[in-house]
Amino acid sequence: MDVDVFTLFPDAFDWFAGQRHVRNAAGQGLRLECVSYRDNTPLSGGQVDDTPFGGGAGMVLRVDVMDAALKDVYGIDPVDLRIRRRVLALTPGGRMLDDRFVDELAAEPAITLLCGRYEGFDERIVQHFASDAVSIGRYVLSGGELAAMVVCDAGLRKLPGSLGHGDSAMEESFSAALGGDPEYPHYTRPAEYRGWRVPDVLLSGHHEEIRTWRRARSRERGSGGGTSLP
Ligand code: ADE
Repeated sequence: MDVDVFTLFPDAFDWFAGQRHVRNAAGQGLRLECVSYRDNTPLSGGQVDDTPFGGGAGMVLRVDVMDAALKDVYGIDPVDLRIRRRVLALTPGGRMLDDRFVDELAAEPAITLLCGRYEGFDERIVQHFASDAVSIGRYVLSGGELAAMVVCDAGLRKLPGSLGHGDSAMEESFSAALGGDPEYPHYTRPAEYRGWRVPDVLLSGHHEEIRTWRRARSRERGSGGGTSLP
């Protein structure tokens, strides 16, 4: 899978790209490329944003700057690009990222992630260049970079072989294997700590009973709105 990230801060992805699981995914076919708006801007002095028409605080990423950046990298009119590959504008008001959306994106051979900054994008970027607007939650981040990393990270876990253990992503929270419910609780050694015992069934070696117990805990979490605490 090819992932191109358009951003004002390509360096922000250095840490992410260096993580072991991301490097593993690179070995399994993930290619992550960052493109700086500033490297392609047609405006002088590396300008990429401007004040909003109608007034208001903050700066807005310019549509002509995005047009130039996309054209430079893909060599075609960005209006046609979104017909050929998913072009995702990261914005708090977009379609909420969930497991189904991640599956959809992970099935794509190539995606492009557009990061906004400050007040976000000129709306014509979203309207004319993007195939989708994506939100990772109804709150406002300082830019799309963290959201782009969330999309990449959730997506690369779905790539065959990227997790090392073949089953890990199958029974993950919200997967079809768990009927869309959150994952069951996990425990490891020690079997007892400060009087807190691991449920006996998990130590029993009875695979069918373990499966049944896990499915029930997973359902409980799904219907009860998440992990319950004492
Ligand atoms: N950019 C700023 N906030 C965002 C959010 N919540 N989701 C996606 N992109 C964003």
